[in-house]
Amino acid sequence: MSDPWQECMDYCIEVTKRAGKMICEALQKDIAVMHKSSAVDLVTETDQKVEQLIISSIREKYPTHSFIGEESVAAGAPSALSDNPTWIIDPIDGTTNFVHRFPFVSVSIGFTVKKEIEFGIVYSCIEDKMYTARKGKGAFCNGSPIKVSGQEDISKSLVLTEMGFKKDAEQFQTMMANIRNILSIPVHGIRSPGSAAVNMCLVACGSADAYYHMGIHCWDMAGGAAVVREAGGVIMDISGGPFDLMSRRLIVASSRMIAERIAKEITEFHVGRDDTDD
Ligand code: IPD
Repeated sequence: MSDPWQECMDYCIEVTKRAGKMICEALQKDIAVMHKSSAVDLVTETDQKVEQLIISSIREKYPTHSFIGEESVAAGAPSALSDNPTWIIDPIDGTTNFVHRFPFVSVSIGFTVKKEIEFGIVYSCIEDKMYTARKGKGAFCNGSPIKVSGQEDISKSLVLTEMGFKKDAEQFQTMMANIRNILSIPVHGIRSPGSAAVNMCLVACGSADAYYHMGIHCWDMAGGAAVVREAGGVIMDISGGPFDLMSRRLIVASSRMIAERIAKEITEFHVGRDDTDD
């Protein structure tokens, strides 16, 4: 039986390449920075233009499909996931990196049908690495198959997470305490590349063994979740339960053993959901 979504995936790769080119060109010019929810929540004209390019190109070809895009949601569009084929788009994952020209900047697109991720594309455009994954067909970087490290011993692992200023003092403290707990296991180290999608791809290709985060969004997770899963990685909720794309939190790892150990070390804090006002 032919694969009904392969054509969408092929088209997605083409559009993502165009988006990456637009980002790389914008890096050669002055970057004007604007703010969204806070002084550290940055956005640029390029985020908005790239999202417009992606959505208009896809909508033209697939007019009945739905979209959840970071910048459209910031402008007031809903972010509820339905059963309809849905493109979940982060035009620039790593906007702070983009602003500083720190070289991990990606275009991330996940495609869901009946709320299940069918494929994911992450284009780390400065590195020119195109990560692709179709459900059941494996994960690839620039066309070559990738897989997780398979590491099971957390004391031999390299762990990724992201840290940022938090207005809530208790959350800030918990975030820092979680980092201290993981470092004290001990692990080989913690790194923060600055793009959730790239973080997941780094686990997917074995350059890191785990990544955890509370407070990201479905557009940060959808593309990379497909890649890491298809590369043989484990993906779960921060509590150790099943992964939920709208939950704003996740652990990915090279093995269940490492993921479960991270879940055990981490104290949760409330981050709300993408599909409710909670
Ligand atoms: C951000 C990146 C970053 C993470 C932030 C996200 P954005 O995405 O994924 O790694 O720490 O929480 O918001 O805003 O650059 O698309």
